[in-house]
Amino acid sequence: MLGYHHKVVLVGDGAVGSSFAFSLLQTTQEIDELVIVDLKKDKATGESLDLQDITPLTSPVNIHAGDYSDATDADVVVITAGVPRKPGETRLDLVAKNTKILSTIVNPIVESGFSGIFVVSSNPVDILTTLTQQISGFPKHRVIGTGTSLDTARLDVLLSQKLNVPVNEIDALVLGEHGDTSFGAFDEATINGKPLKEATNLTVEDYDELEKAVKERGGKIIAGKGATFYGVAKYLAYIVKAIIENRNIMLPISAPLTGQYGIGNLYLGMPAIINRTGVAKVIDYDLSDAETEKLKNSAAKMKEVLDGVKI
Ligand code: LAC
Repeated sequence: MLGYHHKVVLVGDGAVGSSFAFSLLQTTQEIDELVIVDLKKDKATGESLDLQDITPLTSPVNIHAGDYSDATDADVVVITAGVPRKPGETRLDLVAKNTKILSTIVNPIVESGFSGIFVVSSNPVDILTTLTQQISGFPKHRVIGTGTSLDTARLDVLLSQKLNVPVNEIDALVLGEHGDTSFGAFDEATINGKPLKEATNLTVEDYDELEKAVKERGGKIIAGKGATFYGVAKYLAYIVKAIIENRNIMLPISAPLTGQYGIGNLYLGMPAIINRTGVAKVIDYDLSDAETEKLKNSAAKMKEVLDGVKI
C-alpha cells in the first residue's frame, strides 16, 4: 500500500503541528516529503524553511508549504487544525467550531484522491476522529486519533513520581474519552511486569487522586504556559512512524469500536496495534466489570455530543 516515496501532509501549523513536524523529523529517517498546510500560508512557508535547516542533522526530507491537493499521493495526513482550549474550557466546549473546521479540511483531502491514513489530534479528539471517518467514508482502520495516548503518558509519569520507579517500568493505560470521563485501567496495570495492585500498597483513594491528576494535567499546563503541545506532538510522531515504518506498535489511541463492550460506531481510547495499514487490530482488553462500566459511560457521553453535531 505504501509506495517507496513516503509523504506526510500536516494540516494545521499551530503549536501542536509545528512541534509534531519537528519531532517527526527526529523520530524517523524514512520520510521523503513533508508538506505543511495552513490557512496562514506565510507561516507554513516560514515553518518549512526553519525545518529544512535541521535536515543536515536528520535526513534529507523535502519540506515545503502546500495545499490539500498535496494529499493525493500522501501516505498520511495529520490533522491538528482547530481552535485550542483556553484556560477553563473543556475539550467538549470546542466541538461546534472544530467540527466546522474539520469538514472544510476532510472534504478537499478526499477529493484530492487521498488513499492513505488520517491521523487526528484536534479536540475533542474522539469526536473529531469519528467525524473524520464519517465525512471521508474511509474504512475505519484508515482513521486514527491520538486518543488517550497522552493521558496514558501522564498517568505513567505520575505513577513513576509517586512510586519512585523509572517511568519505562510502568505500564498503566488510561482508556475512554481523551477528556473528563477517561479512567485508569488499574486492574490490568503492571510495574516491572508485576500487577500494580500486588506490587504496591496504593489505595482506592490513591487511584482516584491519580485519575484526577491525569484529567487536570492538560488544564494545568494551559494555565501555566498557555497551551499543551510537546506531549501530543510526540505521540503523533510516534503514530506516524509506526505507519510509515510498519512497526506494529501497541498504543492506546482513539480506536474504532465496532461492537466491543457493546459500543459501536465510535472512536474511543482503547489499545490498538498500528502499522502501515493503520489500525491493524483493536486489542480485546479484558476489562473488569467496573472498568467496562466506565468505558460505557465515556461512550454514552461521546454519543450524546455526537448527536448534537451537524456536519
Ligand atoms: C491535552 C490536549 C492535547 O490534553 O488535549 O494536552
